[in-house]
Amino acid sequence: MRRREARTKIRDSVLVDEVRQSTVDVALERKRRKLVAALGLPANFRFVNPIRRLRTPFAELVKRERIQAVRFKTGISVDYPDLVQMRHRAGKNVVVETRSDHQQSKRRMGQPGHDFALFGAARQHPAPQGKVAMGEGFLLQGGDCAESFSEPSANNVSANNIRDFLRVFLQMAVVLTYAAALPVVKVGRIAGQFAKPRTSPMEKKDGKELPSYRGDVINGVEFTDDARRPEPARQIEAYRHSAATLNLLRAFVHGGYANLANVREWTLGFVKDSPQSHHYEELADRISEALGFMQACGLDLESHPELKSTEFYTSHEALLLGYEQAMTREDSTRPGTFCCTSAHMLWIGDRTRQVDHAHVEFCRGIMNPLGLKCGPSSKVDEILRLIDILNPENEPGRLTLIVRLGSEKVGDQLPAMIRAVKREGKVVLWSCDPMHGNTITSETGYKTRPFDRILSEVKTFFAVHRAEGTHGGGVHLEMTGQNVAECTGGARMITDADFKDRYHTVCDPRLNAEQAIELAFLMADLLKAERATRAKPLPAVSGL
Ligand code: TRP
Ligand code: MN
Repeated sequence: MRRREARTKIRDSVLVDEVRQSTVDVALERKRRKLVAALGLPANFRFVNPIRRLRTPFAELVKRERIQAVRFKTGISVDYPDLVQMRHRAGKNVVVETRSDHQQSKRRMGQPGHDFALFGAARQHPAPQGKVAMGEGFLLQGGDCAESFSEPSANNVSANNIRDFLRVFLQMAVVLTYAAALPVVKVGRIAGQFAKPRTSPMEKKDGKELPSYRGDVINGVEFTDDARRPEPARQIEAYRHSAATLNLLRAFVHGGYANLANVREWTLGFVKDSPQSHHYEELADRISEALGFMQACGLDLESHPELKSTEFYTSHEALLLGYEQAMTREDSTRPGTFCCTSAHMLWIGDRTRQVDHAHVEFCRGIMNPLGLKCGPSSKVDEILRLIDILNPENEPGRLTLIVRLGSEKVGDQLPAMIRAVKREGKVVLWSCDPMHGNTITSETGYKTRPFDRILSEVKTFFAVHRAEGTHGGGVHLEMTGQNVAECTGGARMITDADFKDRYHTVCDPRLNAEQAIELAFLMADLLKAERATRAKPLPAVSGL
């Protein structure tokens, strides 16, 4: 086979490996088997990046100790009904097609390359999460449960939706930065959050059974045969949406929108005149006063870029491995180091964290900061095992444990987790996901989350950390800047009756802007309390 052809064929196989292994090139397959045998790996091992890896001389590969491999064992894989359709719709070479699309969109938008620009954030070393893990900061992570190509309240190419999300997110960040006096690492659940693991592969409605909705990158949310059929070309669309979202986010964040002089402008119209907005205005006044004071002291605020913009990072669940793999690049300055350019931070879901499965294996091989969701079924030894696999160098910031136990279990289960991690001397960033353990079905049949339980889980999370002497370092939220009614409660007491008109999520229920800001104030208080206990009072001097 001529070289060029061979390469195309191999590239093809990178993306479709997970789908159908039989397309693997014969020569490549022979090399793979040899390598697998030489390394003593199970016969069905597949390598994360066969093209690049197998171009390196064989002997050298064998020598490398930390060879990154993927065993294609996964509870979650997509059965594309027709691979030919995939070739037809997505082009002959999926990876190359994605790149040329990207070239086109680059030209259209006149912006620098998206994936490689993202590369910068993802390979930032040490990761900004590192300081947080060491107790000096807070990780604010949030966004839609699932972004959508078309639902306006979760549609990431709708500029207003992104702007509104960013407004609430910046408000939360500024509340935490000011009230808790901690630097906040801002990570959106955005620009790539398109794939969903589902409890049940099929959904039944009015006597009809169809595949479950698995996120816009796989199939459509409408309950029809057409929409629910997995469609490979959606990967390219997800890529385009992500690139456009990122582009817009950058324009907002670095174009002056995030300037601290604008703290008042971030308040959304529908939040005005709520208890939250009054609380926020007070804080905005104090910030303006503080800035005014510094200026009066002779500090030239104009010469401080840190006041005018901020760093905003992106993240999503690393679920659809073919997609993530196609976005993975080798760092040319550090050969052998791979970076997934689809986001800054990626996390492993609670359903895909099996030690010997593909998702853990893939994430182990990339250098991005990682999250690991820990639900109620997480066993302490499993968590320790995963920490060893995902962060063998015990590097602060590499791994964030995103604890999602639910308000009832967090008090019982979290202390044991923290103690085990401490005992082993591991450094992790502890983050609280108060959303996923508190999902219930309302009387009217909607999936919802009572705001009280969310608050309660956050409070218990911080209380446990205080008792254990560790840093409750972050929060992971499902939220939106739209005026939705999806979680019950909050200062404006959302009830079941509001769901009829204002329930828009394509997946899980999200906090609306008011609820999100209320939560930020609560967390700021809890963090302040944590700091107060940690800053030990001066020892009493006798006689005083
Ligand atoms: N650059 C600082 C930071 O990111 C201060 C800052 C500027 C900021 N704009 C912000 C903080 C918006 C929160 C929200 O922390
Ligand atoms: Mn969710």
